[in-house]
Amino acid sequence: MVDRDTSGGDKSFSVDVPQKTEGYFLKGAQHLDWGMKDRLSRIFNPASGRTLMLAFDHGYIMGPTSGLERMDLSIVPLVEHVDCLMCTRGALRTCIPPTYNKPLVMRCSTGATILKELSDEVIGVSVEEAIRLNASALTTQVYIGGEHERATLDNLAHLINEGMRYGVPTLGVTAVGRDMVRDSRYLGLATRVIAELGAHFVKTYYCEPGFDEVVAGCPIPIVIAGGKKLPELEALQMAYKAIDQGALGVDMGRNIFLADDPVAMVQAVRTVVHKFEKPEKAFQMYNDLKK
Ligand code: 5RP
Repeated sequence: MVDRDTSGGDKSFSVDVPQKTEGYFLKGAQHLDWGMKDRLSRIFNPASGRTLMLAFDHGYIMGPTSGLERMDLSIVPLVEHVDCLMCTRGALRTCIPPTYNKPLVMRCSTGATILKELSDEVIGVSVEEAIRLNASALTTQVYIGGEHERATLDNLAHLINEGMRYGVPTLGVTAVGRDMVRDSRYLGLATRVIAELGAHFVKTYYCEPGFDEVVAGCPIPIVIAGGKKLPELEALQMAYKAIDQGALGVDMGRNIFLADDPVAMVQAVRTVVHKFEKPEKAFQMYNDLKK
């Protein structure tokens, strides 16, 4: 339509101010589209560049495991303190009030339980369903070197392809099979494969020595899983060391919801992740907050 304003002089094009071309803060994400970056910016805090994710998807293979018997009671009080949730659609719809408005990383794999071979998984959630639930990312795990390595890599590739159609990023998780060692050689291989397949961020375990090399060899952000329950100070030390060596966050489950005081623990982990607080100080904070 022709501009009817002929008066002139009252427009401001600021012709002497070049339009800014901003970079993007997240490792490996510079060339992604706007929707991807918007979703990743909900998961990773642009101010710190890091994320505190709460993982409570364990029930999809373990049933009502310790700490998750009643997610409405154990998980909901933690939600306000985290940046992002990682769970199944069933947990989300039944136990998490949508009023919290937290970004969600949707567990999309299924097909196995602890009673059988864990790596025998398929994708059970469509990208449309994930979008219906306003997921900010999709996720599945790969068992590199495991019995169903190929199928789990295929699951990951499928999610990445589907997510790319709609601008939804994918988190690749390195599940470690029974016969694998969680050392930097294995985790370096697994995280790199996940990145090369096109995932947008990766979840793996902290390892010593060599975690810094795992991070350096992986061109996308790494967040660490907590793993089995540790004493609270040790869990905070692990989170600190991971951040110090380049992890861009944690995706913790048991070390938060099985802590003596989960609400205090989630706040202590948060201060390590976002403020890079020393673990001893974070532990002091945990004890001060502990009921
Ligand atoms: C397993 C997962 C789980 O969500 C994750 O490992 C659980 O977190 P944590 O180990 O901290 O309890 O992705 O593949």
